[in-house]
Amino acid sequence: MATSVRSTNAMDSFWMPFTANRRFMEDPRIVKSAADMHYVTADGRKLLDGTAGLWCVNAGHARPKIVEAVSAAIAELDYAPSYQFGHPGAFELAGRIASVFPGDLNHVFFTNSGSESVDTALKIALAYHQSRGEGTRTRLIGRERAYHGVGFGGISVGGIATNRRHFGSLLAGVDHLPHTHAPEHNAYSRGMPEWGAHLADDLERMVALHDPSTIAAVIVEPMAGSAGVLPPPKGYLERLRAICDKYGILLIFDEVITAFGRVGAGSAAELLGVQPDLMATAKGLTSGTIPMGAVIADAKIYKSVTENSATPIEFFHGYTYSGHPVAVAAAMATLDIYAEEGLFQRAAELTPYFEDVAHNLRDLPNVIDIRNMGMVAGIELAPRPGAVGERGFEAMQMAFERGAMIRITADTIALSPPLIISKEQIDELFDLVAGVIRDLK
Ligand SMILES: Cc1ncc(COP(=O)(O)O)c(C=O)c1O
Repeated sequence: MATSVRSTNAMDSFWMPFTANRRFMEDPRIVKSAADMHYVTADGRKLLDGTAGLWCVNAGHARPKIVEAVSAAIAELDYAPSYQFGHPGAFELAGRIASVFPGDLNHVFFTNSGSESVDTALKIALAYHQSRGEGTRTRLIGRERAYHGVGFGGISVGGIATNRRHFGSLLAGVDHLPHTHAPEHNAYSRGMPEWGAHLADDLERMVALHDPSTIAAVIVEPMAGSAGVLPPPKGYLERLRAICDKYGILLIFDEVITAFGRVGAGSAAELLGVQPDLMATAKGLTSGTIPMGAVIADAKIYKSVTENSATPIEFFHGYTYSGHPVAVAAAMATLDIYAEEGLFQRAAELTPYFEDVAHNLRDLPNVIDIRNMGMVAGIELAPRPGAVGERGFEAMQMAFERGAMIRITADTIALSPPLIISKEQIDELFDLVAGVIRDLK
């Protein structure tokens, strides 16, 4: 059989996601292995992981317990469908996940990613209202600057223009709350800003405009991560919750980043004492090892959808890999590590130190804001005139050359290391980042 001789460059074929592809090929940043707090680059250099991969490797890399659990699982039950059949692990894991989250959040729908979790949560919200005879509630409300993944549902409720503008008309019937980023009021806040709770009141305006009988759900990230680390103003989420309650609107928290320890608790909902009706999760669930997400639904939602269904299958939705046995094993071992090593508590204990070290960078050149929540810090640099994102990009590249993986959103550096990081490694990470910022033009 003839083989195609199409490509001259072995790297040509991978169309990389959310990457400047042509620029990457000129100067690739390649990692080939990882353990605990470090990656190893293709040329054998150790890189301190300042981003937990992509906000997901909360337990640290290549933890033997997870590796062994995954290897054993694939040998025992490589795959099992979750449509009309089941396997014990998926039921056990669902129960364990439910026990991580507060209140009646105790029915778990498995997905494979954060994007799928978001779209699933939106669909559950619509199904819930239909099941209660309120099928006119179809409107979904997101927020400016929100990142809810890349499905059509997620980009519709999302609020990042670049992620939306190429993709047509998106979902109909979506509106957006204002974002909460207001440097003139809350720059350099330590943790949650004092200013901004009143921005939640915009939901009242939308209710007046659209009528509550048309609104199904509001979705927000408790802390917006991918748009540059925006912790919620104090009292903001409480106000959203109260307005949702007043009008029978469901509140969905997208906790794809914040769940599983990132903010020093099982979830932002738990940390802040604000209870959503639906929660979207992924990332930290398996510490990034095997793709898996989960939507956790309040008992009233599950009950209504399953008990009021006119058809034997109550909810026409699912993925071939929902509750995949290998992912289940990875999640189970990950939750074991979180519990055995008290990693959520550890994150809570490290937070004040992490906050101090982050805010020590405020007098460096071009720094215009520093924001933090839990084990997340955003360091915003002034954009170069006419070249938004260039300074950030160079910061990432320089950090890579000097021994750390950091993440950038335009000109904001986002740091969110694995929760096993030591204080010495926090110092090392921020020292390296400080050096990079000093040397950047
Ligand atoms: C808040 C939030 N929602 C959804 C997603 C999408 O997750 P995934 O990339 O796994 O689809 C992300 C990813 O960063 C996220 O931060």
